Amino acid sequence: MQERIKKLTKLMGEFDLPGIALNPGPTLTYLTGLEFHLMERPTVLLITVEGKTALVLPALEVGKLASMPIKIEAFNYSDDPATRSEAFVRAAELLNFSAKELGVEATRMRYLELMYLGDAFPELGFLDASACLAELRIVKDEDEQGKMRQAAVIAQNALLATLKDIKAGMTEVEVANQLMIQLLRAGSDPSLPFAPIVAFGENTADPHSVPSGRRLKPGDLLLVDWGASYQGYFSDITRTFTLGEVDPELQKIGEIVLRANLAGQTAGCAGIEAGAVDRAARAVITDAGYGHAFIHRTGHGLGMEAHEEPYIFDTNPRILTSGMTFTVEPGIYLPGKGGVRIEDDMVVTETGFESLTDMPRQVLPLEAFMEN
Ligand code: CO
Ligand code: CO
Repeated sequence: MQERIKKLTKLMGEFDLPGIALNPGPTLTYLTGLEFHLMERPTVLLITVEGKTALVLPALEVGKLASMPIKIEAFNYSDDPATRSEAFVRAAELLNFSAKELGVEATRMRYLELMYLGDAFPELGFLDASACLAELRIVKDEDEQGKMRQAAVIAQNALLATLKDIKAGMTEVEVANQLMIQLLRAGSDPSLPFAPIVAFGENTADPHSVPSGRRLKPGDLLLVDWGASYQGYFSDITRTFTLGEVDPELQKIGEIVLRANLAGQTAGCAGIEAGAVDRAARAVITDAGYGHAFIHRTGHGLGMEAHEEPYIFDTNPRILTSGMTFTVEPGIYLPGKGGVRIEDDMVVTETGFESLTDMPRQVLPLEAFMEN
């Protein structure tokens, strides 16, 4: 953990950030080993480029600090909101922070925390520190990769257990609920990376479909996009199945998406651009005449967040290096008819991309997995 703070302060120097404020989320957990709920009572970790740290938190959370592997000065406040400002002011005094700018995570920091920070550090402006913080977590060490590997194993086992009991007539919500139960049984952390997507028939044409009361019937595609969490690290997988005889065009797009997925998986190794992975997968779909129906980027980074750097889009010049982890998830979506997506989780190595996910990828008949 001390190493991680050191790595961050070095990056802050490179990014010209005199200080950073973090509220509960993966970055704060990565640095401290502690998890806090994001709630109405603010919890903020402050770090200066000189390596000084201070944590402001509600008094009821102080017990967690005993298990913290590093020493951070803490300032707590009571349930009376009037005591919050003073805790922030005392933290500011300890840091003796006189710079005019403080970096925050644009997708996490809230106006609530900014108000207290603004009071404690008059004349302070805020900067988006996302680029700096992405560098902190983008390369996963062996231990982190092992956790992601386990998150993939758990997710795959959970889906197989769910498919056994699927029957025609079940709703998307029923299947999604079963899958969540199986994820927890298979060993996922209680907080799943995201609510599983389970879509049948025409609903598979919406990449971010929300499970509904739609019932499964012969002739449907069934698409599942799900993941598990293991010790804070995520998997994110998509597989598509058929029930009974489906429209031949849907079979055809299934074969094209499989080829696109494999093209993305074999697009290169450490040293290539993230954009090259997107272009390799996209070329297969475009050449087959469905370029217009592949309506999203090929993938995204994965780790302690379901979507993080590196993002896999056409014009992204970022060079992939060993230990980066990302998804390859091409899809073809035909409105009114159906869609196919095949998503795998990859680790960049010197010689290629290694897939953490190994369930059969092709669009297979659900009957092959059902027990009754
Ligand atoms: Co997904
Ligand atoms: Co994904």
